[in-house]
Amino acid sequence: MFEEDFHRPVLLEETLLGLDPQPGNVFFDGTVGGGGHSGEILVRILPGGFLYGTDQDPFALEQARKHLCAISDRFQLDSINFSTFLGKAELPLLDGILLDIGVSSHQLDNAERGFSFQKEGPLDMRMDPRQELTAATIVNTYEEKELADIIYQFGEERFSRRIARAIALRRSEKPFENTKDLSDFVAGLVPWPGNHPATRTFQALRIAVNQELASLVEALPRAHGLLGFGSRLVVISYHSLEDRIV
Ligand SMILES: C[S@@+](CC[C@H](N)C(=O)[O-])C[C@H]1O[C@@H](n2cnc3c(N)ncnc32)[C@H](O)[C@@H]1O
Repeated sequence: MFEEDFHRPVLLEETLLGLDPQPGNVFFDGTVGGGGHSGEILVRILPGGFLYGTDQDPFALEQARKHLCAISDRFQLDSINFSTFLGKAELPLLDGILLDIGVSSHQLDNAERGFSFQKEGPLDMRMDPRQELTAATIVNTYEEKELADIIYQFGEERFSRRIARAIALRRSEKPFENTKDLSDFVAGLVPWPGNHPATRTFQALRIAVNQELASLVEALPRAHGLLGFGSRLVVISYHSLEDRIV
């Protein structure tokens, strides 16, 4: 991957239109990722502005820091969940907040992170590698009913019970070892038309591992409380579960 790919943000024009960053503004980007949006915000709030940024993935923040340092030192990055940060940090009133939620293409593309059913890697899926819970723990140890609920609620998978039942039977013989093992197994259980049959199960596991929806639910009122009159909040969401919360 080229360096510039890491920083290529989605919906850039729309995001900047929504946030309207101006010189002197104070902004918070809760999902810095590779720093694409953050960099575009930072150049627009100079001179005098300041950017706070978080990402629970320390690898992403490393890249972002390099990118932002080339623009200015008027920023602070913390490798922490955005909801925790919004609840704890002593922040001034903010002019704008961006949450570009979900997983980054860089995380998906890196087989070692275990997010993708298309690449063989460990059953990991942690955005924050310091946390204990991995997808392997959920798949190999959670009770069948809890597993079915996760796949249903976070994947909107109508075959959730069938999948959970089959996983529970199979793992008692041989625990699931990697992403390919799981995606091939699920592909044999669910009809094919449309997306790959493991898409919904993988989405569900990722959301459960990273407690993505709970973070969003917790963060939105906190974000709202930090916005002054005329300030702006932009949330970029990727699927209906997130849309409903936003
Ligand atoms: C879609 S990417 C953001 C890309 C970013 N806007 C850019 O321009 O590169 C989402 C990022 O948010 C992070 N993330 C997701 N949920 C988070 C949370 N609750 N707290 C902190 N970071 C989170 C992920 O680790 C990932 O790097």
